[in-house]
Amino acid sequence: MIPKETVELIIETSRIEEVVGDFVSLKKRGANLLGLCPFHNEKTPSFTVSPAKGIYKCFGCGKAGDSVRFMMEHEAFTYPEALRYLAEKYKITIEETIPTVEEIQKQDERESLFVLYSFAQKFFSEKLFNTEEGRAIGLSYFNERGFNEAVIEKFQLGYAPDQWDALSQAVTENKFNRQLYEKSGLAVVKEQEQDSQKVYDRFRGRVIFPIHNLSGRVIAFGARQLANDPKSPKYINSPETDIYHKSKSLYGISFARKSIIQHDECFLVEGYTDVVSLFQAGVENVVASSGTSLTPEQIRLIARFTGNITILYDGDPAGIKASLRGIDLILEEGLNVKVVLFPDGDDPDSFARKNSTIQLIDYISKNAVDFIGFKTSLLLEEVANDPVRKAALIRDIVESISRIPDGIKRSLYTSQCATQMDVPEQVLITELNKIRRNLYKKDNEHQQAELVEKLIEMEYLPQQTILTETNAWYQEQEIIRLLLNYGDKNFNYQGGEQQKTVREFILEQILPDGFGFDDEIFAGVFSYLMSMSTADFLSMLKTENSSDLEKLRSKTHELLMNKYELSDWESKGIYVKTEENNFNEAIMNPINHIKLKRVQILKRKNSLLLKEESNISDERMDEILSKQKVYETYINALSKLLGIVTLE
Ligand code: CTP
Ligand code: MN
Repeated sequence: MIPKETVELIIETSRIEEVVGDFVSLKKRGANLLGLCPFHNEKTPSFTVSPAKGIYKCFGCGKAGDSVRFMMEHEAFTYPEALRYLAEKYKITIEETIPTVEEIQKQDERESLFVLYSFAQKFFSEKLFNTEEGRAIGLSYFNERGFNEAVIEKFQLGYAPDQWDALSQAVTENKFNRQLYEKSGLAVVKEQEQDSQKVYDRFRGRVIFPIHNLSGRVIAFGARQLANDPKSPKYINSPETDIYHKSKSLYGISFARKSIIQHDECFLVEGYTDVVSLFQAGVENVVASSGTSLTPEQIRLIARFTGNITILYDGDPAGIKASLRGIDLILEEGLNVKVVLFPDGDDPDSFARKNSTIQLIDYISKNAVDFIGFKTSLLLEEVANDPVRKAALIRDIVESISRIPDGIKRSLYTSQCATQMDVPEQVLITELNKIRRNLYKKDNEHQQAELVEKLIEMEYLPQQTILTETNAWYQEQEIIRLLLNYGDKNFNYQGGEQQKTVREFILEQILPDGFGFDDEIFAGVFSYLMSMSTADFLSMLKTENSSDLEKLRSKTHELLMNKYELSDWESKGIYVKTEENNFNEAIMNPINHIKLKRVQILKRKNSLLLKEESNISDERMDEILSKQKVYETYINALSKLLGIVTLE
């Protein structure tokens, strides 16, 4: 553990412009420095570094932080890794604190395992290069597969001799703890009669692919047979241990992570050999799931470095179909998924060997298609003209789309697939809503908020009937006040990457909703601001003398004087992030208040129908009751957003 004082010293000593400057070319701009943001694609620089404050901030994508944060983001370091890097850069010695006994024990065990695995790796590599058997069998196998020496060394490939106890003996000779070895997964322990055991090497007569963790330490091995022997498995892999959790590891991740960040894309292949071959061909942003479908942990591991996954398939249709389900998981994590299909009979490994790097990269970029479109066309082939199968297909595709967290992306896919499948878009939307409504039962606040938006669109009502009763004068005034004071300001809405002016954002929130203002002065101001910028409106107010404008003037001035806490938003400049969050809230709060009041009225009116309508049919009753449910969900969600308790 790094002592607190050392952490402080590292942070104090690090100079943000130097730390960032190692990775980004920066130009001086007044007190700050400016460059192209390394975290998103941009052509005009909006990445600012403030030496005085010791922080960086991108006004394009919103990423911000100090030197440590920068190293964590840019190099995908953990917190301690980032500190160690900076300590090294500034020649600060880290004297580790003394951990507790339990910490030592746990840490010792894991650490000893790491040491043992590292030893085993060196042992296998040594055998590969420096023994006759290794060279004749192992190395010549790799050579046949076209692996060059550099890539064999990079991936630390090895050879396990064809003996029962080669590693076992070496472990004993090097005075490793016997118990540790027997528990390590490198050995197989067979219980025999009369309490005796037989211990032998797990990997024998096979070539070795070490599996590394994110920071590049060996945590497991995959061992491939040399001849195609159907009686024994093609690969034997390490079992799970304290240092190896299959579901959290990705083969090749430590070698790929830098390149994944650089290209903002990760290629996903099936096997060890695909990774090694692609890497040798110069495609370094590649990892393998090692033959199983991806787990959520593996996806999140990739998501730390990029939002874009491209899956490279060999052209085997059965295999592809089996993997489709797993890909929904990737969509669910919010990543973009593309698919590349290699020509029949080729996997990434064989294709990379047959073609030049340029051809390979060219093939990948020309043949990468969006996953949803790919899945649709793949399944569509089978459906032919069978309506029942087509209905199943629609449900299947919509199921995939429903996993995508982003609403805009979802609707883009919906219309794209409707065209592709030649069905009315509304059919897909209805199906999608059905699925999504079930998802909401999981009660995720974020999803609730989205549902609210959807429902608002569905429940459009003429404004007069409602607004005279909403009595939300203060909220109306607040919206106008924000428009007048900040209407033309850009901000990152909802903490996201996109910039909008405050006015655009408010219009977007209000207009689709059939929203209007009770107060006629507010309504008057708003009607101008609907079609012109705030600056234009204010200058018009100054220069033009119409009686319409006259009525708006004094209220406008009053509200302009009322520029309270948000007015220092700008002067704080670089720390804008926290203020922006307030800004979102400042806008959404009055809007949501008004929405809440409206739904409460709708709900009350709806419940009155039960009493008013005589001879009510069961069907009609169901209809009213289910509407009532919808309003309730809606009221709960809005109350949650507003942080208030509603009493009914
Ligand atoms: N795999 C495994 N055990 C097996 C078969 C496969 O663990 N018995 C995993 C390995 O991680 C392997 C991946 O699934 O890398 C893909 O399998 P496959 O395509 O059969 O192996 P490759 O590594 O591609 O080997 P080769 O190219 O030599 O066929
Ligand atoms: Mn393969």
